[in-house]
Amino acid sequence: MTDAGPVTDAGPLTEVCPARGTAHFWPVDHLPELEFDPLLHRLLREEPIARIRLRFGEGEAWLATRYEDIKELTSDPRFSRELTVDRPVTSMTPHVVAPVGGIGRTDPPDHTRLRRLVAQAFNRRRVARLRVETEEIADRLVDAVLDQGPPAELTSALTGPLPEQVIGRLLGVPAGDLGLLQGWRAVILSSDHSLAESNGVKAEIAGYFRTLAEHRAAHPADDLFSELVAAHGAGALSRPELISLSVMIVLNALDQIRNQASTMVYTLLTHPGQLAWLREDRTRLPAAVEELLRFIPQRNGVGMPRIATEDVTVGGVTIRSGEAVYVSYLAANRDPTVFAGPDRLDLTRTDRPPNLAFGHGAHYCLGAALTRMQCEVVLGTLLDRLPGLRLAVPAAEIRWRRGTVNRGPETLPISW
Ligand code: HEM
Repeated sequence: MTDAGPVTDAGPLTEVCPARGTAHFWPVDHLPELEFDPLLHRLLREEPIARIRLRFGEGEAWLATRYEDIKELTSDPRFSRELTVDRPVTSMTPHVVAPVGGIGRTDPPDHTRLRRLVAQAFNRRRVARLRVETEEIADRLVDAVLDQGPPAELTSALTGPLPEQVIGRLLGVPAGDLGLLQGWRAVILSSDHSLAESNGVKAEIAGYFRTLAEHRAAHPADDLFSELVAAHGAGALSRPELISLSVMIVLNALDQIRNQASTMVYTLLTHPGQLAWLREDRTRLPAAVEELLRFIPQRNGVGMPRIATEDVTVGGVTIRSGEAVYVSYLAANRDPTVFAGPDRLDLTRTDRPPNLAFGHGAHYCLGAALTRMQCEVVLGTLLDRLPGLRLAVPAAEIRWRRGTVNRGPETLPISW
């Protein structure tokens, strides 16, 4: 695994500014299994607010890695997301995954308005109501696994189809169309496709949701998409906002929960002592899920940057007005000043401050409750129904996704 470290030689990757420190070139290489990014590990300890330069875009940006600095930065309204639109900030992907006008790239008051419209759908009460239905879906999927007998492939048997069916119901995407969305997801969320490919797929998705919106406007149903279409009809949401919000929700729901739940199963199966502790008492499941969320490196690189609207001092470093800053929530979750022995999975942790896997501040993940619930259902169902669960191949033979934003096993062969 390459860790380019600080770039100090003269050359195209070098950008040394004595007052601002030396930029670290961060290629964001493929990391297998649960390996933690070594550059993040080092910066967290040696240079918690550092200058970085990624493979694409222009110039440099700041990268914050410490838990407290990140909490401060992400709750400070002097950092803007809207200002990243049309700015070629140094980036790990050749184009920005999130669409312009998308919820992740807006500031108040637009951001507040958009969140209000969808927050209802994802709040804890609504997600709690969805749990029973999710458990039924999980049971049916596991019935099929048991009927077929060992071995099975978990991502195609359970962790892929479960979130697909749940988001299909919540949003109101017809079941027959989910495969289509999966194909688009694969292109958009890979980090090495061309801008033309990505734009082509985005146009196809937008076309799909435009047609669905016309249908729902004429035949409203009891689902989130119909609610959003009604909000559009009432003038509370523009058409591009309606489309980009739906795309964002579907892409996240399909990709992230599959990866997260699969990686949680893998992590438990490769930490048998921890799994045994969990098996002793099922009420430990929510705490176990929190520790798994803290420990698992869910993604490669970093998410979207923010732009300072005035000079702001964080962690002893002044970020000047107009400068871009990234935060690494993964690094925050491994901050040794906050979590004792941060690189160790320890389901029994008691002095546990909230992990930052779902972010912090105004842009805190809308899908957090939905993800937690589905991960609990997956793990709970497997613990109950496949007590002898184990990997069907040696851990070293599991293939991990490459060239994607989100990390996870490509396939997870299991036996019992
Ligand atoms: C393991 C699963 C997931 C993880 C680790 C995760 C993580 C995150 C993070 C770190 C952010 C950004 C915080 C920031 O910008 O500062 C975010 C935002 C967001 N997530 Fe998730 N997410 C997950 C699943 C989901 C799911 C399932 C959905 C939808 C159903 C979803 C929808 C969103 C949306 C809409 C935003 C943007 C919120 C805003 O900008 O106001 N996420 N997520």
